[in-house]
Amino acid sequence: MKLIFLKPQNLKFILRIFVENFFSKIFKRGEISGEVKKYVFENAIRNNPDSVLKAMDNFAKNRRFLMNIGDIKGSLLINQLKKIGSDLTILELGCFCGYSAILMAKNLTKFGKVVSLEVNKTYARNALEIIKYAGLEDKIIVIEGSSEKIIGTLRYRFDLVLLDHWKNLYKRDLIAIEKRGLLKNGSIIFADNVGKLISALAGERGYSNDYLDYVRNNNNYTNINIKTYLEYSMAEDEVEISTYSLDY
Ligand SMILES: C[S@@+](CC[C@H](N)C(=O)[O-])C[C@H]1O[C@@H](n2cnc3c(N)ncnc32)[C@H](O)[C@@H]1O
Repeated sequence: MKLIFLKPQNLKFILRIFVENFFSKIFKRGEISGEVKKYVFENAIRNNPDSVLKAMDNFAKNRRFLMNIGDIKGSLLINQLKKIGSDLTILELGCFCGYSAILMAKNLTKFGKVVSLEVNKTYARNALEIIKYAGLEDKIIVIEGSSEKIIGTLRYRFDLVLLDHWKNLYKRDLIAIEKRGLLKNGSIIFADNVGKLISALAGERGYSNDYLDYVRNNNNYTNINIKTYLEYSMAEDEVEISTYSLDY
């Protein structure tokens, strides 16, 4: 067994996921994004993004784990966003239930936009309903489809890109984004879940080492790594924040 699993803070998280998966199988729990939507509709205030985010946080802490960026890494993301402004055009790979899209959009002016890609149809549809409930449908475009297919059709220039889909796709998709000319001087690439625990736990889908090698050995990027916590836990995680420069 990998030593990283044995650290108490990581072990606690792994046990939580194990127990939840065990009971989900026994009690045949419902589809996760549908459950989140129902919980939000029952517990959050309509047209109030903070209340919608709080409901999702409560669900993830007290009912079932959610792979949202969460409150702690969410504030790291918003710190970066605020450094570059509020009339931003943002690309997100991996929408899930819309948590990070709502978090970013609520920090933008009416001229800002979040374009969020989601390959899972059910997630994409439920995310859109949650986003409408939060009153942010004018600022968030959810595109149902895989990043592989959609990136080549986009025409925006993005100020910020949130990479938060499967980690082994980060490098491939960043290169596709570059080739499509979707970045500008100073664009920020915020890559979630690049810590070793995710790599060890999630197998291929959690593998981001090739991505880290790519941005760290590339003169077009300056990089900052922040050690932080995996969403809704004290388990280890890291984010990599890379600034793109065309000047080199
Ligand atoms: C970690 S979750 C995203 C969480 C979300 N950013 C948040 O913080 O609320 C990852 C999501 O990426 C989606 N995904 C995985 N591969 C994808 C791809 N190639 N294109 C688009 N979405 C993808 C998954 O279906 C999943 O919903």
